[in-house]
Amino acid sequence: MKIVRTVADLQKHVEAAKQAGKQVGFVPTMGALHKGHLSLVKQAVEATDYVVASVFVNPNQFNNSKDLESYPRNLDRDAEMLQSANCELLFSPDVKEVYPEEDTRQFNFGDLESVMEGRFRPGHFNGVAQVVSRLFDMVKPQKAFFGLKDFQQLAIIRAMVKQLNLSVEIIPCEIIREEDGLAMSSRNTLLNVNQRKNAPLIAHTLFESCKFAPELRINELKSKVVTQINQSDELEVEYFEIVDGNTLQAIDNWSDSDYIVGCIAVFAGEVRLIDNVTYKNT
Ligand code: PAJ
Repeated sequence: MKIVRTVADLQKHVEAAKQAGKQVGFVPTMGALHKGHLSLVKQAVEATDYVVASVFVNPNQFNNSKDLESYPRNLDRDAEMLQSANCELLFSPDVKEVYPEEDTRQFNFGDLESVMEGRFRPGHFNGVAQVVSRLFDMVKPQKAFFGLKDFQQLAIIRAMVKQLNLSVEIIPCEIIREEDGLAMSSRNTLLNVNQRKNAPLIAHTLFESCKFAPELRINELKSKVVTQINQSDELEVEYFEIVDGNTLQAIDNWSDSDYIVGCIAVFAGEVRLIDNVTYKNT
């Protein structure tokens, strides 16, 4: 695997691969890699001929400077993991390389960004769209791979691709979990022992809630989930929404949509964890 730090070097390698008739797959990440990221790389390896991954902690998408500072970083380990997953090129630029000048673009994703993560992390998705559009422009992949763990992010990326009329195909990838159910996340390493012990309650409660749907009304199910998770001293739900999987707007009845997803954000101390579960996808 080659490691490059500049756009010029990146493009030299990607151009050569394209000249050789290879289809380019791209997996953007912020590093501190785990098996969730690697599952994206593996799917990219299966679906394309030349896989590029990026590791870049994008300052523009952090609405909280403490979160940015504490974000885990370990490039050597990331490189080893990517190599073992048969990634061909790792792009690990510094901030000046990605943003030689300040990016002042303001995207408008309408109702997609006024809810959930967009509501509680103002500016977050604008920063995500800024960096992913720049990375897409640099790599020009045919396919790009994103995890369903960040359910709203995936919807935002699809909307951005449409708005900018890009030709990249967006491939959604299943959520990868720890054995105890906790959705894998780079932030899991920031949990203390007690928080880590309690964190699987989030996934357990979501899975269990599938059994109650649709016997309970949506509002009843929402309260049940929030109450159960908040019963842990270590966990505090920020939001739990049951939404249409395409529009991300909250629904009132199980019959309101054919694609229904429950999305949650929970604080374990200062660590913010997100997860989601699909209730219906017909
Ligand atoms: P990051 O959190 O590093 O995630 C990179 C990719 O891995 C995202 O598509 C995310 O959804 C996916 N992912 C993370 N945990 C996963 C899991 N447990 N199972 C499956 N996929 C998982 O998301 C970002 O970085 C950034 O916002 C980025 C898109 C790179 C832009 O900066």
